[in-house]
Amino acid sequence: MHPASMENMKRCVDWYLPEGDLHVIDLGASDVNGSYRQLMPARVRYTGFDLAPGPGVDVVLDDPYSLPLPDASVDLVLSGQMIEHCAHFWRVFTAISRVLKPGGLAFINAPSAGPIHRYPVDCYRFYPDAYQALADWAGLRLVHCWRDERGPWCDLLGVFQKGGDLQPLTAPPKLAASILREVVHPEPAAEITKGARPYLEVLADLHELVKPGLYAEIGVRRGNSLRLARCEAVAVDPEPALSEALPDRVTLHDCASDDFFFFHGAEAYPRPPDLAFIDGMHLLEFALRDFMNVERLMRRKGVIVIDDVLPNHPVQAERDRQSRVWCGDVWRIVPLLRKHRPDLKLTLFDTAPTGLLVITRLAPANKVLWNGYNRILRDLAAEDATLPPEVLDRSEALEPTRAALAAAISQE
Ligand SMILES: C[S@@+](CC[C@H](N)C(=O)[O-])C[C@H]1O[C@@H](n2cnc3c(N)ncnc32)[C@H](O)[C@@H]1O
Repeated sequence: MHPASMENMKRCVDWYLPEGDLHVIDLGASDVNGSYRQLMPARVRYTGFDLAPGPGVDVVLDDPYSLPLPDASVDLVLSGQMIEHCAHFWRVFTAISRVLKPGGLAFINAPSAGPIHRYPVDCYRFYPDAYQALADWAGLRLVHCWRDERGPWCDLLGVFQKGGDLQPLTAPPKLAASILREVVHPEPAAEITKGARPYLEVLADLHELVKPGLYAEIGVRRGNSLRLARCEAVAVDPEPALSEALPDRVTLHDCASDDFFFFHGAEAYPRPPDLAFIDGMHLLEFALRDFMNVERLMRRKGVIVIDDVLPNHPVQAERDRQSRVWCGDVWRIVPLLRKHRPDLKLTLFDTAPTGLLVITRLAPANKVLWNGYNRILRDLAAEDATLPPEVLDRSEALEPTRAALAAAISQE
């Protein structure tokens, strides 16, 4: 399974999973680099069906169009990367409709693009109108459908309901549970910090140098970096904990950045931002998506700054947070961008506590990261993620003097 498939199915689960004890079936459940089973809460009874035995498979089907289940016995059907391999896929929808309880749901993912990959055949790609046609064929309602732009598969997601009155979400949902977790590592050395200047001082200099007309921020917490903006600002944080009220020129969206961009799309900002600060979820794939989403809406001569690219200790770089000072694996965005976007100008700065990356020569129309997203993340997962010495010793980072910052933001 490719990373975007899991992300898209998680979206379906976060937004539409019904309450209560549920019987969920997964059609094409074989665990190839991940299973939707991991998205399910404990209250779910999950059965994985597939045509071949394998990890994640509970029931091997003789006939893909005949599910060994009574009528109206299932609350939710999941299926990803399956119907394109199914010669008569419309008959799968008939089977889904039969086993669903009234009001039951189906979350279906299939590619709308991508190379031929036979399991054992590869017959089809699907566009949004196909899901409406299949819903009509099988007597289901298509509640929500979206096409993911990230290649090579460009997932097509469909949320279907048998009867019922489920309505599509039209705005980013509020956070269901708190993500703020304060941790302190028992070993004081794991909490060390260094840096030639505090990052807030350096950000203040960048505001003075760039003089943005619009400032964008992802990850606000107490509002310390957001309050540096003297211009109109649009910020996103699912769980802000502001230390004081924000001025009227700031709009704060209290949702996750992925949801913010999903629902607002090209309208996310009233005009292209000139300066953006990415400091949201400290995990590589989140920082990468934030960069991709922000870059394409920025002014071409704009400046994007990413926080937390220089952890001071390997513990601070753990993906699973272990310390108060936490960077996760955001540092990996530097080699990633160097490799896949050599057109960007990247400058690392030795700021306290955890380093800043300043990015210019933006190319809002560049599609390399969008087209390559799944392959890039798959390749990274196979690479050694040990923190390299040049990250820990900051040997590639510049002292953030005003002159060095001015040079970094110049487009030459
Ligand atoms: C380190 S704090 C930001 C601090 C702020 N930029 C500053 O320097 O004063 C990180 C923030 O990211 C937020 N965050 C976590 N996940 C996020 C997401 N998916 N989208 C946007 N913000 C997120 C957290 O709620 C937290 O408030």
